[in-house]
Amino acid sequence: MSTVDDVKQRIDIVDLISQHVTLKRAGRNYVAVCPFHAEKTPSFHVDPARQSWHCFGACSTGGDIFAFIMKKDGIEFRDALHLLAEQAGVALETRRDTQEDARRARLFEINEAAAAYFHAMLLADDGPYVAKAQAARDYVSERHLATSSIEKFHIGYAPNTWDALTSHLEGRGITAAEAVAAGLAVEGDRGAYDRFRHRLMFPIRDDRGRVAGFGGRVLPGEALGSGENQPKYVNTSQSVIFDKGAILYALDLAKDAIRAEGKAVIVEGYMDVIAAHEHGYSNVVASMGTALTERQVTLLKRHATTIVLALDADNAGSEATIRSAYEIVNNSLRRRPVPNARGIVRQVDTIDVDLRVLSMPEGRDPDDVVRSQPDAWPQIVDQAKPVLDHLFDVAAARHDLTDPRQRSVAVAELSPFIALTADRVLQSHYLQRLSRMAKVDEATLRLELRQPVRARQLQDEVPEDLRREQPATRQHDPREEFCLALLLQYPDLRAEAGGLDSGIFSQSENRALFESWIGGADDGESLGPDLRPHYEHLLTVQLPAYDDTTAVRALRATVFGIEQHRMREAKRTRASALLDVAAQGSAAIAERARAAIDGRVLDVTEDDEPDPATVFVNDMEAGLELHKRELDQHRPRTAR
Ligand code: GTP
Ligand code: MN
Repeated sequence: MSTVDDVKQRIDIVDLISQHVTLKRAGRNYVAVCPFHAEKTPSFHVDPARQSWHCFGACSTGGDIFAFIMKKDGIEFRDALHLLAEQAGVALETRRDTQEDARRARLFEINEAAAAYFHAMLLADDGPYVAKAQAARDYVSERHLATSSIEKFHIGYAPNTWDALTSHLEGRGITAAEAVAAGLAVEGDRGAYDRFRHRLMFPIRDDRGRVAGFGGRVLPGEALGSGENQPKYVNTSQSVIFDKGAILYALDLAKDAIRAEGKAVIVEGYMDVIAAHEHGYSNVVASMGTALTERQVTLLKRHATTIVLALDADNAGSEATIRSAYEIVNNSLRRRPVPNARGIVRQVDTIDVDLRVLSMPEGRDPDDVVRSQPDAWPQIVDQAKPVLDHLFDVAAARHDLTDPRQRSVAVAELSPFIALTADRVLQSHYLQRLSRMAKVDEATLRLELRQPVRARQLQDEVPEDLRREQPATRQHDPREEFCLALLLQYPDLRAEAGGLDSGIFSQSENRALFESWIGGADDGESLGPDLRPHYEHLLTVQLPAYDDTTAVRALRATVFGIEQHRMREAKRTRASALLDVAAQGSAAIAERARAAIDGRVLDVTEDDEPDPATVFVNDMEAGLELHKRELDQHRPRTAR
């Protein structure tokens, strides 16, 4: 989750504003005398459901928590974010200044030097480590790795010593402390020593091809200091550039093929990826044995619409992987704007990824399958099934469905997944199928889906760091995001966008991003670290393919939609204020009338009800404005 969302989630707008203004409940909303201009009749509204505020009086402006603080303190978005983040106890992303960038670049450089060294050690035919490296070369040929793959994936050998890499790097001006920072060496009592000893080395590159870390595979023969139970793989320790949850192995090499096919295949291991690429199946990446994260899915969604999980049949981790992937994909269901022929945008619920599962034949992994029957691979991938079909098949194979107890277990296994299914049509389809399988009517099963216990169980099984990434109740406005995504993805719209007022964006991060963009910032680097995650999210929003004309039309339609929505909201709030007045106000109105007749002037205090006449007139004006805009929109553009 981005910092902005995190802060929005932790700070309730009513709490925040009531620290500065006395709010009074009015129906679903709160009202107050506007703190930003002098007035007697309260025209400042706070809407807890939308976490927004609006002044319908002289200011005629509004926004979210950030906009409130920006206006109150006269500060910029970034400063408001910092202030509220502090208040919410949210750590801001470390400011990525040039020094930080330089540090990251240095780590990549160190890793690149290490990768080159390991690779040279695997291929060397002289030098002190040749004899031991032979074990690695033998292993590589036993696994049938092609020479071309060793080059392409830059596979290497870490010598069986405590200091070969560390001293090699030192010879190249890289200190031991730097090697430790890169996760290549470990700080010990007597100085730093090499983390990887006698291992087959796989450099792990990020999607831009930079070496972020390594996986080192155990080899025949004992590694120094390894003892009995050495792990099959050792990874670089977590560092500022190496975060396993943010990387998919070989994505740098696979992305063109993924884009060309619209399909990505996720396997578990390095060896599986290499075998597939070696046989020309280049749309394959690896999750490196852990459950998929939202960041990984986001990376793939840029290139693929279909994601196939190719999992080892016997691996218990597969279920966790399927579950987290399914959860992420269903969470990403969103109301996607679809323009019709007239450029009018309609919101449609969609899941933008088709997630499928391919289970490998018993006891085999993609590596053997590809190597033993290379030509069969494409058909095997085509047989991947939608997640729930796969799970039904697994349940049917695992349980004796003639036994009611086992049917009950199957229901318990499947219903959390059905509950997760965000698409209502699909959910209903699988519920019917479960009903047939379990011999239980659908209504009863529906109750099962609602059981909170199951939801909690499911949550508990999702790793902590994954849970934090689930987008919880967001206040995102899909229209604003669509509009910004359009601008960012169709930069030619800049001219058309010049006439836009940043005030159309009600979410502060959208407004700030728009202002930076219109001010000339056109890549993630030139935005601050606060806005970058949001910017990156917007780049991944899938848009229809527009040409120059339709893009302009889509932009106009979207802007119109936003304005229209804004006015409707205003109208709605005023109408509800009017109802409140009418409901409880007759006594107050009578009292006011009497006071007027008596020549008394009633004190107008903050607690006063809104003056019904003012509210009524404002409401009518809002209605007229709304209709005027609607008429304008349907008038030919040149006539305006
Ligand atoms: P081979 O067994 O040589 O075919 O390697 P593999 O890549 O197929 O490995 P496997 O299917 O056993 O595991 C899949 C992936 O999980 C590996 O590629 C690693 O990324 C990861 N993995 C497996 N075991 C370990 C381990 O002990 N430690 C760590 N850090 N990762 C592991
Ligand atoms: Mn394997």
